[in-house]
Amino acid sequence: MVFAQLRRYGVVPVVAVDTPEQGLRLCEALAEGGLPVAEITFRTAAAEATIRAAVTRFPDMILGAGTVLTADQLARAMDAGARFAVAPGCTPTVVERAVAASFPFAPGVCTPSDVERAFGLGVRMLKFFPAEAAGGVPLLKALIGPYGHLGLEFCPTGGIGPANLASYLALPQVAFVGGTWIAPRERVSAGDWQAIVALAGDAVAAARRP
Ligand code: 3PG
Repeated sequence: MVFAQLRRYGVVPVVAVDTPEQGLRLCEALAEGGLPVAEITFRTAAAEATIRAAVTRFPDMILGAGTVLTADQLARAMDAGARFAVAPGCTPTVVERAVAASFPFAPGVCTPSDVERAFGLGVRMLKFFPAEAAGGVPLLKALIGPYGHLGLEFCPTGGIGPANLASYLALPQVAFVGGTWIAPRERVSAGDWQAIVALAGDAVAAARRP
């Protein structure tokens, strides 16, 4: 199962690219840094084509879709070959489609009501977003409290980086963290691939669990 594979890495780069060519170069840099994983966000028009090209070029990478806000985007991500998808919020129509297709999907939550709605829709991996702004590790621990028996897992994103990722990964319910710090937009735009190789390597090292 793909989320179990992502747990082994502990960290997922959240990326936005302008063109599939740029996305392929970025994937190459991430893999070279030892992190053959990416959430390619539908924040740019290039997302679908990038996923389609990248899954062909890098069949061993774990590539998913991010910022999936509509059933149409979900369908396009699945068709392009994404192996998982996430969203910042929890839109029932999208979650229902993913669950019906047995497609790994993590909707965003940051309140008890969000958690209960997502659980009721049938998903067990929840994106805790926006992690730091909403209350960070203390809020996540408080959310886990009443729901610990449900078998939920979380992938926090939003304000996470080298300084705080270990505090999230210390929670057994946290499968992996995500963030844009590994592939910053300005580095991607500048084609500074060596910087991204280094950031990916640092992230893998920082995310290693004992
Ligand atoms: C996401 O979509 O997961 C967030 O935008 C990532 O947040 P960050 O930019 O603070 O890492």
